[in-house]
Amino acid sequence: MKKNSLSNYQCDVLIIGSGIAGLSLALRLSSKYKIVVVTKSQVNESATLYAQGGIAAVFNKQDSINSHIKDTLTTGIDLCDYDVVSFIVKNARKCINWLINNGISFDKNVESDRNDEIYHLHKEGGHSHRRILHIADRTGTEIENTLANKAIKNQNIRIIEYMVAIDLITLENSKLFVSRRAVGAWLWNRNQKTIETCTAKAIILATGGASKVYQYTTNPDISSGDGIAMAWRAGCRVANLEFNQFHPTCFFYPKGNNFLLTEALRGEGAFLIRPDKYRFMLDIDKRAELASRDIVSRAIYNEIRNHNIDCVYLDITHRSEQFIRSHFPIIHNKLLDFGFDLTKDIIPVVPAAHYTCGGVIVDKFGRTDLDGLYAIGEASYTGLHGANRLASNSLLECLVYSQSVSKYLIDTLYNIKLVNSLPLFNIKNSQEKHHLSDINLEFYLNKIRKSMWNNVGIIRTHKSLKNAKHEIILLNKEINRYYNSNFLSDKLLEVRNLVEVAELIIYSAIQRKESRGLHYICDYPNLLPNALPTILIPSNYVKK
Ligand code: FAD
Ligand code: SIN
Repeated sequence: MKKNSLSNYQCDVLIIGSGIAGLSLALRLSSKYKIVVVTKSQVNESATLYAQGGIAAVFNKQDSINSHIKDTLTTGIDLCDYDVVSFIVKNARKCINWLINNGISFDKNVESDRNDEIYHLHKEGGHSHRRILHIADRTGTEIENTLANKAIKNQNIRIIEYMVAIDLITLENSKLFVSRRAVGAWLWNRNQKTIETCTAKAIILATGGASKVYQYTTNPDISSGDGIAMAWRAGCRVANLEFNQFHPTCFFYPKGNNFLLTEALRGEGAFLIRPDKYRFMLDIDKRAELASRDIVSRAIYNEIRNHNIDCVYLDITHRSEQFIRSHFPIIHNKLLDFGFDLTKDIIPVVPAAHYTCGGVIVDKFGRTDLDGLYAIGEASYTGLHGANRLASNSLLECLVYSQSVSKYLIDTLYNIKLVNSLPLFNIKNSQEKHHLSDINLEFYLNKIRKSMWNNVGIIRTHKSLKNAKHEIILLNKEINRYYNSNFLSDKLLEVRNLVEVAELIIYSAIQRKESRGLHYICDYPNLLPNALPTILIPSNYVKK
């Protein structure tokens, strides 16, 4: 790994993003290659850090691989790729063991309720068995911090914090390569406010999802769809972006930041009730509160609208105080800060944007449409989730793909040449141009997120999608005009990617003329007989 005077880092593999996908891949590759991981905030800031429920895998003797496959397919409403589902579920145990070997200790059953099962397993919506390995309600924090500490100490991994990938550097077919290829990335150094580059034999997008495109979300600020936008601009296809998952139970607190209340609470018996205490999920699905997320979120949305209420309530007060405190310590403490006692009070909740089921199209080795470019984790579309992700399958997908991508790169990368000299142009030669203040960008950001929430949310209509399309296309044009004539800033990069992804979500939603899973459109309430993914091809959407 070297950094020359032109701020050009070189390495074998450049990984963009340091969540579970990026870090587990870096660790797996580090025995063989020099890795640079760039990450736009602190190393551990990621959706991974906030994961609560855990990781789905078959560890229960009553459970089976077939049952996990079936639950994933049923939740995805016939739109999952069977081969991919089977590949991921079958590799789950091996990958969980990799995590355990890397220092993660999942909660075990106490002797008295062991029932022959070693691990305490959570149950979540859509799962027919207890299947979720976890560490109380701080699974993501334990995983992220453990992997980050290992990566920091690893001689072959260099982690560069506060470094934002702006766009990919590509080379057209040349003497070096037979086809167009990604050879690096332009980077924005947030501390120095300078543009740098990194060239590598393989570039990995591990940038997470795009739920920040919605006004209300469970996700951290980093989830702005950067990898999806970058891949699209570089000419890669994307799929199924209309399927944004809304988690049913986000803490509702208008005066402060909202946060997730894990589905595992409902797995341990929590009810959803209206202010008049009515348990409405019993009328909607025989699984009641443990129906899949699309169904529960839509039900809450309808209760709120039909009864003109602000929120519904989560009630687990019938479980013992000791049980709640030991299983959900983080949530219990966090709620106390807001004046709610999970052991005694009912807790106000609303749905919020949670997970991007679609993304950059990849094959089983994480290969995108562009040679040299790979995508992994929530940024990618593998075919696992279909029209709705089964709870706790996401961390699993990250782990299984880091195994398969690493194996592929270990087998093939020795063949690839590193590009030493880049074409002599700069991504943005515009630092002398006038400056647009961040205040205006905040205004654009809010406009995008509001429009997406109101028009492309839990329930859509033909008209709402048309309104959103009109609004977002105009905003995209304006923001790109500003991008081409202003200083770079953290906010400008974020807004540019968010508006790009918003447009792609809208195009995808308009294309689907049916209601399936997370995409519910009043004008087409039924399922079409054939389940097909929505694929967008960049050359069909050339900007005028
Ligand atoms: P992330 O963990 O989001 O990491 C993305 C990384 O990319 C970050 O380091 C970010 O800084 C970096 N990055 C982004 N853009 C750039 C850029 N332009 N340049 C440089 N770096 C960039 N799933 C489960 O399976 N089980 C759960 O229990 C669970 N609970 C969840 C709870 C919450 C509150 C949330 C928000 C999600 C939860 N999920 C859960 C979903 C799961 O956490 C995520 O899908 C998963 O962690 C994604 O991992 P990732 O590595 O792909 O992305
Ligand atoms: C949760 O704990 O409810 C989130 C799990 C997930 O998103 O998979």
